[in-house]
Amino acid sequence: TMISIILGTRPEIIKMSPIIRECQKRNITFNIIHSGQHYSKNMDSVFFEQLELPAPDYNIHVGSGTQAEQTGNALIGIERILLEKRPDIVLVQGDTNTVLAGAIAASKLNIKIGHVEAGLRSYFREMPEEINRVLTDHCSDYLFAPTEKSRNILLKEGISDKNIFVTGNTVVDAVYQNLELSKKKISILKDYNLKKSGYILATVHRKENVDNPVIFRNILNSFLRISNEFNIPVIYPIHPRAKKMMEMLDCNLSGIIFTEPLDYLSFLQLEQNAKIILTDSGGLQEEACIMKVPCVTLRDNTERPETVDVGANILSGTLSESIFKSVEKMMSIKAEWINPFGDGSSSKKILDILNKDQLL
Ligand code: UD1
Ligand code: UDP
Repeated sequence: TMISIILGTRPEIIKMSPIIRECQKRNITFNIIHSGQHYSKNMDSVFFEQLELPAPDYNIHVGSGTQAEQTGNALIGIERILLEKRPDIVLVQGDTNTVLAGAIAASKLNIKIGHVEAGLRSYFREMPEEINRVLTDHCSDYLFAPTEKSRNILLKEGISDKNIFVTGNTVVDAVYQNLELSKKKISILKDYNLKKSGYILATVHRKENVDNPVIFRNILNSFLRISNEFNIPVIYPIHPRAKKMMEMLDCNLSGIIFTEPLDYLSFLQLEQNAKIILTDSGGLQEEACIMKVPCVTLRDNTERPETVDVGANILSGTLSESIFKSVEKMMSIKAEWINPFGDGSSSKKILDILNKDQLL
């Protein structure tokens, strides 16, 4: 039997890494199909190297493009490989265009699909990822839901209970497997002259935020205001999509520390030692919650409401005043919540389930 692991972007590489490691440990036959959705060194190969993952067996090099170009090219490329290799099951993780392409390609070939991180919903259909989540869940055979909340969402949509497995989120495995290593190896705080709990970590990359100049300018200006009024540095490792848009805005942003996208171990250090995290990233909402760093999410909705429920995260929207108020509130809270995404054994649980069904 054989399993194909499909991935294409930074968060998929990170969140699939514990599953890949577990496959290696158990001597399971697998291959890695990379769509090439992310391709810059610091969005892609840096993670394979640092996490010591085997190089992808296939890379389709879809690159950037419109939603349809990217999804369509990935679909065609993945189908070709699946036809040739005929795996028993494919695994996809999350909500990117690569995930949707992988799920559609496999479903039409009657290959079983496991969706890691199933059942997340923002209920905001303008977000391309929301469409990818819904469609992928509805053509998957194994829905690996991180929490009971996501299981209930799937049940409400009519998905059969026997296809849903609450496993926690593999991001916890990734954080636990890499945090110690990152403490030993990394001097990123020194590099930027930052003190523990003495800076804010910010990331913004969502299409809805950065592709809209009014919203993006608002967010950047609120970072400046927060940095000034709280007298605290803001560091922003900037995603290439956001960088491209920022270069078109005419703003003086010399009060923000910008860096290129960082490797995972450096980034974990920055997250763990931040006073608070300001972000629109899905993965950061989870990692902040896991590492007990308060988070302000620069959106009106989230598909990770568990983080809000436990008090680790609040939704600020994208208006300057509400971002400021949210930051003020989160600066003074005590991080005493319990991480709702599991104990770091998700990848083991997922492979145990597939093993029981003789798919490995
Ligand atoms: C994608 C995912 C998003 C995820 C994010 C993780 C979809 C619809 N979106 O968004 O859910 O949160 O990845 O980071 O699948 N670019 C580079 N180098 C790269 C990759 C991208 O320069 O390696 C630039 C290109 O200008 C490209 C832009 O970033 O046009 C956007 O890339 P794309 O993959 O389309 O979407 P992301 O914003 O990265
Ligand atoms: N990340 C990283 N370096 C960075 C920014 C993020 O290693 O400069 C990691 C982060 O720790 C998390 C993942 O990338 O595991 C999140 O990816 P991103 O925000 O791009 O996507 P999302 O989670 O929103 O889909």
